[in-house]
Amino acid sequence: MLVASNRGPVSYTLDEKGELTAKRGGGGLVSGLSAIGPEAGAVWVCSALGDGDREAVRRGVSEPGVRMLDIDAATHADAYNGVANSVLWFVHHMLYQTPLEPVFDGEFRRQWASYEAYNRAFALALAEEAAQDAAVLVQDYHLVLVPRMLRELRPDLRIGHFSHTPWAPVEYFRLLPDDIAAKVLRGILGADRAAFLTQRWADAFTECCHAVLGPGIPSGTRIGVHGLGADADFLRERSHEPDVGERMAALREQIGTAPDGTPRRTIVRVDRTELSKNIVRGLLAYRQLLEDRPEWRERVVHVAFAYPSRQDLAVYRDYTAEVRRLADEINSRYGTPGWTPVVLHVKDDFARSLAAYRLADVALVNPIRDGMNLVAKEVPVVSDEGCVLVLSREAGAYEELGEDSVVVNPYDVGGTAVALHEALEMPLGERAERTKRLAAAATALPPTRWFLSQLDALAP
Ligand code: G6P
Repeated sequence: MLVASNRGPVSYTLDEKGELTAKRGGGGLVSGLSAIGPEAGAVWVCSALGDGDREAVRRGVSEPGVRMLDIDAATHADAYNGVANSVLWFVHHMLYQTPLEPVFDGEFRRQWASYEAYNRAFALALAEEAAQDAAVLVQDYHLVLVPRMLRELRPDLRIGHFSHTPWAPVEYFRLLPDDIAAKVLRGILGADRAAFLTQRWADAFTECCHAVLGPGIPSGTRIGVHGLGADADFLRERSHEPDVGERMAALREQIGTAPDGTPRRTIVRVDRTELSKNIVRGLLAYRQLLEDRPEWRERVVHVAFAYPSRQDLAVYRDYTAEVRRLADEINSRYGTPGWTPVVLHVKDDFARSLAAYRLADVALVNPIRDGMNLVAKEVPVVSDEGCVLVLSREAGAYEELGEDSVVVNPYDVGGTAVALHEALEMPLGERAERTKRLAAAATALPPTRWFLSQLDALAP
């Protein structure tokens, strides 16, 4: 059994003394694979991402069951920043400002050649590592060409591809040059099974195949859906460790009490500072709530965690700056000596995220588009007293959680402000009932079972 992904389960940092420290990553795939483990012969092929990782590869340092590929840094940058994150991610999340973007010129063609080389490096490593008839699970938009390349090298293998993103609607997918659109689809169709987080993304992929390739899905490729859920046991245990308790106390201090002495209500959001997460419109909606409903002033705090992401891309740096600017603007316009309307934290801290989940009265999850969105699934599991989920209908999680959420159109700032008001007003009894149902739906397919279900589905 092999897994392939750009970001692996471990990363190395290099200190001034030249010492390497390994840090294990979190996430569904990591806990899923730990159910199988290196002792069963499982191998995870991933990319070296920073100086620490590259140094580890050079020194021959590795973790059992992990093979890190030291792909030339410029090639990796073109493939990861240029094609994967600036083109494929933008297409699937519909992020282009279309009067000026995208432009597919000579620079793009050069980056595409790097993307092919990067995918080929993975295919070669997998072909080398895989035992006869092994199962190979290829992950995400970084590696869409791998299934076909690997099939040509090793026809004996059972190959699955899993998309963790949404899939673009046909009209938007066809922004890509025709030959590239066809290569993306044919690449994935090299797999025995192409799988997605929701039926909606699976259907969009099928429609793109019909529109771009004519004959559509070849009979050799099956389409599947596996809706990754939250890991209830891990989250419940982890969120009751002492460091989380300490952070809850610190957050309570920052949130403070309303003029009548009751604790302030909290609207929580936790995201990577990611364009598709729609953090700016979330802040605009909160500003409108304070404007239209002055009764909430001094009585509510928006706790927003926006963790750094993809800072090599200028558009992400600009977006991060806009999030900070808007939070400052709201604080200076409405804040009082005893009340900070927006508490923004930008340093990644998982224990503090869990603390905020436990405290939240309302969780705001309003992405423009999102493959699933695990925050929406984690909050109801961890919440102490029930939390109202304000959820974008464009998140994959909407399929499972929509019924018990307050649903928003992510572009509709005014509508989101009204939804926040409704959520804050919801009676505690109803809130607790909904949270219970949300938690049950959110944990239906925990990471280990999600992973094993993909493996089972690949069985001959
Ligand atoms: C999304 C993608 C993942 C990716 C993650 C973090 O969830 O589907 O493949 O690893 O974002 O992004 P990064 O660029 O930091 O790996």
